[in-house]
Amino acid sequence: MTSAAGLEARDVSKVFFSGSTPVWALEGVSLDLAPGSFTCIVGPSGCGKSTLLRIVGGLEQLTSGEVVRARTDTRIPEAFVFQEHGVFPWMTVADNVAFGLRMSRASASERTARTKDWIARVGLTTFADHYPHQLSGGMRQRVAIARAFATGSPVLLMDEPLGALDAQTRQLMQEELLTLWESERKTVLMVTHDIEEAILLGDRILVMSARPGRITHDITVPFPRPRTVGIERDPAFVELRHEIWSLLKDDVRASEEDA
Ligand SMILES: Nc1ncnc2c1ncn2[C@@H]1O[C@H](COP(=O)(O)OP(=O)(O)OP(=O)(O)O)[C@@H](O)[C@H]1O
Ligand SMILES: [Mg+2]
Repeated sequence: MTSAAGLEARDVSKVFFSGSTPVWALEGVSLDLAPGSFTCIVGPSGCGKSTLLRIVGGLEQLTSGEVVRARTDTRIPEAFVFQEHGVFPWMTVADNVAFGLRMSRASASERTARTKDWIARVGLTTFADHYPHQLSGGMRQRVAIARAFATGSPVLLMDEPLGALDAQTRQLMQEELLTLWESERKTVLMVTHDIEEAILLGDRILVMSARPGRITHDITVPFPRPRTVGIERDPAFVELRHEIWSLLKDDVRASEEDA
């Protein structure tokens, strides 16, 4: 099934009360994602990007506001690819991918077939019985991505899914992710700190301010699809990258000085 649902968040704020002083992570964040669209979030470190994604995915409580999910099957949670530690180290590749299907109504034989199919689609067939520590970082992220796509959730939330990879592996994985998404058209919300990645993959880029995180700009990416990594040489691409970096850089500098 490739049917997609949209996603909406209204005026979401979040304060963490766990330490000695409250941390105001998000302030009045609203989102409205069209079904089947790919939206990227960029913003300085600590501005609340992961928190926003976790709230949208129901993994974190919000302090005020609301998240509206247009889901047809409420048993299947939004699929998540985490910022790090995205796979279970004690499970094989096949078991990790199959874990994503645990909530599906599919029969055992269908689940096995879907698991096999997704492992093949991310090029890991010969590694199906391997454990994560036997894989490279890029392969581990492929497992996490396969598991998320395999869930059947029309919404895919990804928190810097390629952030830990070296530049070359990252570029290959960007192309792979682009191809997978173009064939499946899930509603994607993806955090990245890589502006070029956001332009290559996204239909829209949301720029967040330093904490408390707010969405300060909502940029439509003008490049037609299907896209390939070559568009990075297009002067319009270079111009857009510069424009987004200009919006971000003061906040990024401030967050580096804070750290
Ligand atoms: N469980 C928590 N308890 C207390 N504070 C938290 C918790 N989770 C996050 N925070 C704080 O909320 C703020 C936003 O954190 P978050 O992880 O969402 O930032 P981020 O934008 O994803 O950063 P990065 O780019 O470094 O991943 C930070 O100041 C962080 O310390
Ligand atoms: Mg984060």
